[in-house]
Amino acid sequence: MTFDLKAYLKTKQERIQQALDDLLPTTDSMPPKLHEAIRYSVLAPGKRLRPILVLAGAEAIGGSAESVLRTACALECIHVFSLIHDDLPCMDNDDYRRGRLTNHKVYGEAMALLAGDALLALAFQLIAENIETVPAQNILPTLRLIAQASGTWGMVGGQVVDMESQGQEIVPDTLHYIHKHKTGALLTASVLSGALLCGATEAQADALTKYGEHIGLAFQIADDILDITGDQEKLGKPIGSDEERDKATYPKMFGLEESRRRAHEEVRLAIETLQGFDENAEPLRAIARYIVERDL
Ligand code: IPE
Ligand code: IPE
Ligand code: MG
Ligand code: MG
Ligand code: MG
Repeated sequence: MTFDLKAYLKTKQERIQQALDDLLPTTDSMPPKLHEAIRYSVLAPGKRLRPILVLAGAEAIGGSAESVLRTACALECIHVFSLIHDDLPCMDNDDYRRGRLTNHKVYGEAMALLAGDALLALAFQLIAENIETVPAQNILPTLRLIAQASGTWGMVGGQVVDMESQGQEIVPDTLHYIHKHKTGALLTASVLSGALLCGATEAQADALTKYGEHIGLAFQIADDILDITGDQEKLGKPIGSDEERDKATYPKMFGLEESRRRAHEEVRLAIETLQGFDENAEPLRAIARYIVERDL
């Protein structure tokens, strides 16, 4: 039997959508406008890759996906915070995201900023609340990991160098730094946190860290490629945005063909890191392949 990734993704996406709907602040509580802005962006149709990686990371070591659901939702909250801020006029200045107008286009810049802030804080609340289903001693290292991956040692750090590198001649090491941090860090933290919460051994955690780093790089290279070759309608966000802002991307530095080759190589390496895992890691293997084959 080959693993049916499509069905797997669909089931997990539906579960996550329901959980997010339940866990996000409601529009009948104060301040309603903020909660509307938060729900607008989070509940919009995203791929839910980060929360799915949390669940798949738990399953890969024989843990229960259901037990880590709150942390999965937390990772989506951090991701959406990064998207809302990434689209602001002071950053990438994009008007469409997930097939809708960007948050600041609908709610204004101040509310978009605050919705992002609130989502980051909410994420850590949700992780702490995961105490209902996983042992407290597993939550502590997970909090540290996710905090580290979100801030200056992770996503925010990558975003800063991304901004600083616009219109500049940069070296491949800098490009690698940008992709590893702005995107790889959160993807790595996702898969690893699912496993840590379920009591991963050090060897398992090491392997999953490497897996995350490889798919993280592959994912952002694929995102760069889709910004050139993708279908705007399908992607739900503008294409050509990187070229317009003279962003540091793989295609810009290496060309499309070489970028594709590198992305595929990262996927191969990602799957290789899972050699010591049994069939419970089949979702992770399939997700790695999907990352470079996706068209949205
Ligand atoms: C977009 O992430 C931002 C990047 C890190 C490239 P996704 O492509 O996962 O966006 P959604 O969550 O599906 O909207
Ligand atoms: C953004 O990279 C990574 C984030 C941390 C949001 P991009 O700027 O390329 O993401 P998109 O293409 O706008 O989704
Ligand atoms: Mg950006
Ligand atoms: Mg952007
Ligand atoms: Mg992009």
